[in-house]
Amino acid sequence: MMELPLRQTDRTGRPYLVRYYDPADRAALEAMYADFEPKRAAQGLPPDTAERLRAWLDRVLPRGIHLLVEVGGRVLGHVMLIPMENATAELANFLHQSIRNRGIGTAMNRLAADIAREAGFRRLWLSVEPSNRPAIRSYQNAGFRQLPGSLWAPEIDMALDLEPRTTPASSSPSA
Ligand SMILES: CC(C)(COP(=O)(O)OP(=O)(O)OC[C@H]1O[C@@H](n2cnc3c(N)ncnc32)[C@H](O)[C@@H]1OP(=O)(O)O)[C@@H](O)C(=O)NCCC(=O)NCCS
Repeated sequence: MMELPLRQTDRTGRPYLVRYYDPADRAALEAMYADFEPKRAAQGLPPDTAERLRAWLDRVLPRGIHLLVEVGGRVLGHVMLIPMENATAELANFLHQSIRNRGIGTAMNRLAADIAREAGFRRLWLSVEPSNRPAIRSYQNAGFRQLPGSLWAPEIDMALDLEPRTTPASSSPSA
C-alpha cells in the first residue's frame, strides 16, 4: 500500500493532509458528514439523518480503501474505493463545502488512481449526476472518460483504466 500520510498544498497554497481512515476516526467522520452541505445531492448521499448516516458508514467502511483529507487537524474529506467485479473499484469523493474548488478533489482522484493501481485494481468506475459540474470536471481533469450511456439514464457513468506501472528495468543479466 502507498505510504501515507501525505502533506499536500491546495491551489490556494493552503496545506492539507491525506491519510488512511482508521476506526478511531469514526466520530470525526460522522461530524464531518453531519455538517456537510448539501446533503443527498450525490445520488442521495451523504444521508440526511444521523441514523441513516451511521447505517451508510456501517455498510461502506468495512470494505475497500478509505482515505481522509484533514485540514488543521479536522477531518474534512472522505474518499472511498469500493471493490466491484472484474478488478474494478468504485470511486466516491466527499469534500466538506469549506474546502471545495481548490483542486483537492482532482488531486484526490489522481492519488486514488495510484492507490487503486497499487492495490491491483485495473479500472476505476463512478456514476455522477449530470448537474454535478464540479465533480464531472474534477474527474475529467484526472483522466476519467464518460462511458456511453442510454439516453434515458439519469446519471453519467465515468471510468479510468489503470495501466499497470511498468516496473523499472532491472539490470539485464549479462550474457
Ligand atoms: C465533487 C468534489 C469531490 C470535487 O472536489 P473539488 O476539490 O471541489 O474539485 P476541484 O477543485 O478539484 O475541481 C473542480 C472543477 O470544477 C470546476 N467547477 C466548479 N464549479 C463549476 C461549475 N458550476 N460548472 C462547471 N465547472 C465548475 C472548477 O473550476 C474545477 O475545474 P478546473 O480545475 O478545471 O478549474 C467536491 O466538490 C465535493 O465533495 N462535492 C460534494 C459531494 C459530491 O458531489 N461528490 C461527488 C459524488 S460523484
